[in-house]
Amino acid sequence: MVLDNPIVFYTLVTVTIFVFYVCLILAGGKFLFGWTRHCKSKTRLFGKTVIITGGRTGVGKETAVDLAERGARIIITTRNCTRGEEAIKEIKNRTGNYNIECMELDLTDFDSIHRFATRIKQSEIRLDILINCAAIIDFSTTNVTKYGHDYIFATNYIGHFLLTYLLLDLLKLSVPSRIINISSLMHMLPFDLDLKTMCDNGVKYPGLSGYMVSKLAVVMHARSLSQRLTGSGVSVYAVNPGLVKTELYIPFKSKIPACFLKVLLWYLRKISLTPKAGAQCVIYAAVEESLQGSSGIYLDKSKVVDGNKLTKNEGLCQQLWDMSMEICGLQQYA
Ligand SMILES: NC(=O)c1ccc[n+]([C@@H]2O[C@H](COP(=O)([O-])OP(=O)(O)OC[C@H]3O[C@@H](n4cnc5c(N)ncnc54)[C@H](OP(=O)(O)O)[C@@H]3O)[C@@H](O)[C@H]2O)c1
Repeated sequence: MVLDNPIVFYTLVTVTIFVFYVCLILAGGKFLFGWTRHCKSKTRLFGKTVIITGGRTGVGKETAVDLAERGARIIITTRNCTRGEEAIKEIKNRTGNYNIECMELDLTDFDSIHRFATRIKQSEIRLDILINCAAIIDFSTTNVTKYGHDYIFATNYIGHFLLTYLLLDLLKLSVPSRIINISSLMHMLPFDLDLKTMCDNGVKYPGLSGYMVSKLAVVMHARSLSQRLTGSGVSVYAVNPGLVKTELYIPFKSKIPACFLKVLLWYLRKISLTPKAGAQCVIYAAVEESLQGSSGIYLDKSKVVDGNKLTKNEGLCQQLWDMSMEICGLQQYA
């Protein structure tokens, strides 16, 4: 018998144990991250206008497709409208809705945000849903914006803070309206938020660098803003789309050793959601009628869950709010 050979026997045992553990790790990953609840709402959006930042790719684009199918006018933003045209063509072809537009917006550039908001206020008579979806992730970046702010924090949080402020009047004119801030499960990781005001190596607010902190700030913004908008008819939600196969992780490619990266990307591909599945919780926050009246919540897999406990720290939320107002050069909000 072949199994009488100890080399064959031990090789078989080792391979079996290896396959067992790989399956276990895959099943664990799938159980934790690789599923979602599909949005079953039949809400139609004829006559409604939706803005989706970062709608050219990934979760933003799939959200645009769904909301376009419901009849909404969709405005997606990108830093490069030439690249955006392809997405526009795809959304029109897939939905048959031709009321789709692409506009330029760079969230790291205050001038670009002001220009975009002015254009919107001139061209649109209403804004029903604002989805703050654009983001970057790169744990090793040391880039700063031209104002000296951390690049990730500026893109993912500060830019959206200013944009939301500038579009608030239009949202108030279109009540009941909604603001949806896209966060991440990673917002749960920080134990503290270090609101330093001094400079460190030329980076202003150095303690705020990093994807997780930016995503924590996004949830705190949703909570703080919802309190300020109580009774206004504008609801604010924070959402975790889940682990999704998108372009978000491309910057990792140059930073991680090739062999480890291959294994990591293979694993992530196996357990993560498609962009369409990742968009489901965002779509739910945008259209689900039963959510009306529960502003300030954090949604994961289309269920209300507790976010990081720091998001309930009123003093810290207020400090972050004041700091954001100062960075954006704003005097009064809401
Ligand atoms: N993928 C995941 O596993 C995952 C997990 C949790 C949370 N999320 C969140 O889901 C949201 C969507 O991410 P995704 O996975 O769909 O990523 P994605 O496909 O990479 O989309 C990110 C978008 O952000 C835009 N963007 C980047 N920098 C910008 C800037 N400076 N100004 C304006 N727009 C900028 C990009 O638009 P242009 O290149 O066209 O300018 C791009 O379309 C993000 O908020 C992300 O944090 C994703």
